[in-house]
Amino acid sequence: MKVRCALPALAFAALLALTACDLPGKPTPADIVQRPTDILDPVVLYKQNCAGCHGADGKLGPAPPIGDPVYLAIVDDDAVRNTISKGRPGTAMSAFAQSEGGMLTSKQVDAIVQGMRQRWGKAQVLQGGTAPPYAAKAPGNSQRGAAAFATFCASCHGSDGKGTAKVGSIVNPFYLSLITDQGLRTIVIVGRPDFNAPDWRNNVPGHPMTDQEISDVVAWLAAQRPMIASSSPAPTTSSPGGQQ
Ligand code: HEC
Ligand code: HEC
Repeated sequence: MKVRCALPALAFAALLALTACDLPGKPTPADIVQRPTDILDPVVLYKQNCAGCHGADGKLGPAPPIGDPVYLAIVDDDAVRNTISKGRPGTAMSAFAQSEGGMLTSKQVDAIVQGMRQRWGKAQVLQGGTAPPYAAKAPGNSQRGAAAFATFCASCHGSDGKGTAKVGSIVNPFYLSLITDQGLRTIVIVGRPDFNAPDWRNNVPGHPMTDQEISDVVAWLAAQRPMIASSSPAPTTSSPGGQQ
């Protein structure tokens, strides 16, 4: 049979015309190019915009593990939406919302936030316990932070934070100048379970860090940050210089 479309039943033919017949010039669904702003599938949006830094599954990337269930338990939607929309100036986290010069509509930002919760959130991850607040309530004290560092961090990161044979430095000036205080706080609370770094409960087993200790240790890390003039996110008003 040469004429594949000549079928007796007209309805059938019409159906086939949509699906199987070779009608030159008729676009198949795959040919219809979706406008980038029409994409609302959070999996696609995440893959296209976020996976390169935050990892394919929200972990194992260079940037914070935003797919971690503990992270998702401590942070609320507004904070996530805000960070995606506005970015974190001075770091690799750029502003994604169109209103901030990015490429994503607010609907797409919402879709990504919901997608993160659906894919990676876990209701019982804190097992009824409470976590320290996501954002610091009051500034920490870097002197007390030095003591907290010795208690909770030095066993792995070394007494000066420069690392040990198994764990890298966390006082490297390049590292510290590219992460905000909130970024550090997030890491101290959530850890990097994807790289075997404990969360706030398990640096010293049985002795979870208090909110104050977390703020203090972040203040200590922030005090190691090189002071850079210009658009640095560092909340410091001191004069430039002091790198290395
Ligand atoms: C049981 C060991 C251990 C303890 C205790 C520990 N860490 Fe870590 N930490 C790690 C490991 C492992 C990594 C990831 C691998 C690496 O960076 O070399 C890491 C990574 C980090 C990072 C970099 C994370 C990133 O991806 O940007 C920071 C910052 C950090 N730790 C801070 C701290 C602070 C502050 C404390 C104390 C409150 C602490 N850590 C306690 C093991 C530990
Ligand atoms: C070029 C790398 C890069 C890309 C792409 C990127 N991020 Fe980030 N993101 C970062 C870095 C670095 C940080 C840490 C910023 C800081 O120090 O506060 C971050 C922080 C975040 C945080 C805040 C973590 C916290 O402390 O609570 C969220 C949420 C986030 N990113 C979501 C996203 C989403 C969603 C996308 C995709 C739309 C995305 N990021 C794309 C690098 C990136």
